[in-house]
Amino acid sequence: MKAYRVNGGRPLEGTVAIHGAKNSVLPILAACICCAGICEIDNCPRIADVDTAIAILEHLGCRVVRQDHRLTVDAATVDRCDIPGDLMGGMRSSILFLGALLTRCGRAELSLPGGCALGRRPIDLHLWAAEELGACWEGCSPSLRCTCRSMAGCCLPLRCPSVGATENAMLMALGCRGVTTIENAAREPEITDLARFLTAMGAKVVGAGTGTITVEGGRPLHGACHKVMADRIEAATYLCAAAGCGGLVELVGAVPDALTPVTELLERSGCILQPTERGLLLQSDGRLHTPGPVVTRPHPGFPTDAQAPMMAALLRAVGITEFTETIFENRLRHVEQLRLLGADIRQYGSRALVRGVAHLHGGILEATDLRCGAALLIGALQAEGDSTVLGVHHIRRGYDNIVETLSAVGARIWETDYTG
Ligand code: EPZ
Repeated sequence: MKAYRVNGGRPLEGTVAIHGAKNSVLPILAACICCAGICEIDNCPRIADVDTAIAILEHLGCRVVRQDHRLTVDAATVDRCDIPGDLMGGMRSSILFLGALLTRCGRAELSLPGGCALGRRPIDLHLWAAEELGACWEGCSPSLRCTCRSMAGCCLPLRCPSVGATENAMLMALGCRGVTTIENAAREPEITDLARFLTAMGAKVVGAGTGTITVEGGRPLHGACHKVMADRIEAATYLCAAAGCGGLVELVGAVPDALTPVTELLERSGCILQPTERGLLLQSDGRLHTPGPVVTRPHPGFPTDAQAPMMAALLRAVGITEFTETIFENRLRHVEQLRLLGADIRQYGSRALVRGVAHLHGGILEATDLRCGAALLIGALQAEGDSTVLGVHHIRRGYDNIVETLSAVGARIWETDYTG
């Protein structure tokens, strides 16, 4: 099986180009079928989840052309409303085609989505929103078949600020008569990027980025051009790698304002961060100290997706750092893997106490999800000696060219075949 081999123990120096955001381009690609036109999506990362989204679009009848980091999606020829289980199971974002298909076709035949194993990952809020807007369900889980003769906008008070449910409700609302108000909406920057794209398609979306979003349904929609926002989690990942290893790295294309919860912690741990004309510069001597407690929260709090990379960055930080994961029930699986590098981490349910150690040693590690994989690479880059990281398919779902990117800043990392 494919694996990444890492020989750690050296600083990172140079520039890293930040790509378009995975968690923005995926809802945007689903939204492309809401109009019978051609959409040009620029700054699209070359990652496995985008490949899955393209496969779903082509299955539905779209013509998709990819030229490097630009996708052209012609949705004029959408001729079906069903998505097979193998495509649905490839990622979490496949569930966003529920809202897009209801708006385009008035019907959707799906099954449960896939995605990282971070806990239960229910979709009750997505299904509830569809019903509230007028969809009728047929059959029972795991098949999700619903039709809607007519959908009428209404108020949708979300039980929790779910990113995906907010995005799905926005897409469903496009096909409704009247106005839909999403309350307790997620405020992540990717929601705002989706709203920008929908607005470019002719939609009227107000309040994205706040807790209350209104969408005026029934407006004619047309093809649009859009440049995907920079990936703040990819940027956070490389910041954590440079912070932990030490060095001087400039993230070209990073947006400092979108990274505040992460950069504040890294500054408190002893890093020097400085916005530049091209993005953001981080300097670290590699001898960090604990920044204090790290608690994940919905945006604008510290992002759960940066929790594992931040933990890896602080494995050698002097002092004890308490991590608390509040979003997902099972998002500390990187702890037992990082321990294989000699890390001193004690886990108590959704909390983990990381006591900094002077040295880490190499090991054979296995990624269990996307951000766990990134954290294992960050740990291996700090370790003295060789490490092997398995489960690279998880990493490839969300990181464009991570081996080449890290190699370009001095990391000794390469892909290899692992035979055990
Ligand atoms: C999105 O997942 C992101 N994925 C995740 O990134 C991210 O961790 C998460 O938002 C939180 O920021 C994409 O955008 C593709 P949620 P999503 O719905 O939408 C509960 C990564 O590493 N919930 O905001 O699935 C849920 O159980 C990935 O890039 C319900 O109870 O997350 C969780 O506890 C991982 N019912 C909480 O809400 C529902 O119907 C937040 O989940 C939906 C969610």
